[in-house]
Amino acid sequence: MIRFESLSAREWPDPKTTTPHILPIYATSSYDFEDIGQGIDIFSGKESGHTYSRYGNPTAEATASKIAALETYGSSMKAAAVMTNSGMSAIHVLVSALLKSGDKMLTQPNIYGGTTELFRQMSKSWGIEIVYTDLGKTEEVDILLKGDPAIKLVYLETPANPTLACIDIEALASVTSLHNRYSAIDNTFATPYLQQPLLLGVDFVIHSTTKFLNGHGNSIAGVVIGKDAELFKQTIWNTMKLTGANCSPFEAWLVYQGMKTLPLRMDKHSSNALLVSTTLVNHPNVSRVNYPGLESHPDHLVAKKQMRAFGGMMSFELNGGIDTAIKAMNKLRFCSLAPTLGDVDTLILHPASSSHLKVDPEVRRNAGISDGLIRISVGIEDPQDILDDLLQAIE
Ligand SMILES: Cc1ncc(COP(=O)(O)O)c(C=O)c1O
Repeated sequence: MIRFESLSAREWPDPKTTTPHILPIYATSSYDFEDIGQGIDIFSGKESGHTYSRYGNPTAEATASKIAALETYGSSMKAAAVMTNSGMSAIHVLVSALLKSGDKMLTQPNIYGGTTELFRQMSKSWGIEIVYTDLGKTEEVDILLKGDPAIKLVYLETPANPTLACIDIEALASVTSLHNRYSAIDNTFATPYLQQPLLLGVDFVIHSTTKFLNGHGNSIAGVVIGKDAELFKQTIWNTMKLTGANCSPFEAWLVYQGMKTLPLRMDKHSSNALLVSTTLVNHPNVSRVNYPGLESHPDHLVAKKQMRAFGGMMSFELNGGIDTAIKAMNKLRFCSLAPTLGDVDTLILHPASSSHLKVDPEVRRNAGISDGLIRISVGIEDPQDILDDLLQAIE
């Protein structure tokens, strides 16, 4: 018989009899092998299985493969995916896995401010040059790719944060693959329910799952998805493993639970945002509304072509600029002032002082992110409550 101290320290047999209905949280850092031969086979890839949770964890893997299934729904594509510990680490893993010093990346100036800041950091410290252009102008992208073989990756965000500018994904993916370069997209604003970039020809998709995929604002996580499983394993998965960018099983589980209501939430986010944007666009105190669902939005037709509906994100400007914007935000009572998006309740953010604070002010302004711009992540509440609050604040 083993001693008391040993009994106390050892694992107890798993009491599981029947299969749990809900995916369990596998809170374990490592996995037992039946014998050392099995360990050798799993590590070498001869046998499938788990070894160490930085390499792969069943809860995180179930979440990632469900997202890959949603991104490829309706096709026979078998995409690979991995959860990461934030949306930023998904972008970091993607770029560092695909590019090396001396390579260039082509992107747009009007994306999430943290991404712009990360790219600037990568160009300073790693020698990856970032080339900016309007990715909506396919002919210019064609010329750039033809003239510069060092551009290895084209990175886009559509709809973009916070201007909601949209890019024709299929046209961009087609010119990129014509020149044999990789394309990657941040699909955070749309989610796979509204937009499926892999099916439009893009090679890699990333998400901040912190946002709409989770929907409840209770975890920070990200995901990278790729359509070539072998390439994915050698590049993305390997970099995730080596940089320790793996997602904790608990955070992944929260995303997994949240995703069950994704279509219901996205439909309601979209109909509420359309109502809010059509009301604001006709208000005398409002000088500009950015929502791709509005026919007046410059990219409305592009968005209509590639999106099922237009999502919950919008932004607007008031007459009177920054001072009026600050006064209006301070008058909000129902909507929350919180620096995130994609939760079930309505969230307001001031990009110039938060998400885009570290973007050069001139770049920001040229990208349409004025100092007075207010971003709304329209929630799934009764839309009249959202409108009542916004209207009393801007009036
Ligand atoms: C479009 C977009 N991508 C990526 C990120 C980064 O995600 P995370 O905060 O999960 O690292 C954000 C964060 O706001 C975002 O808005």
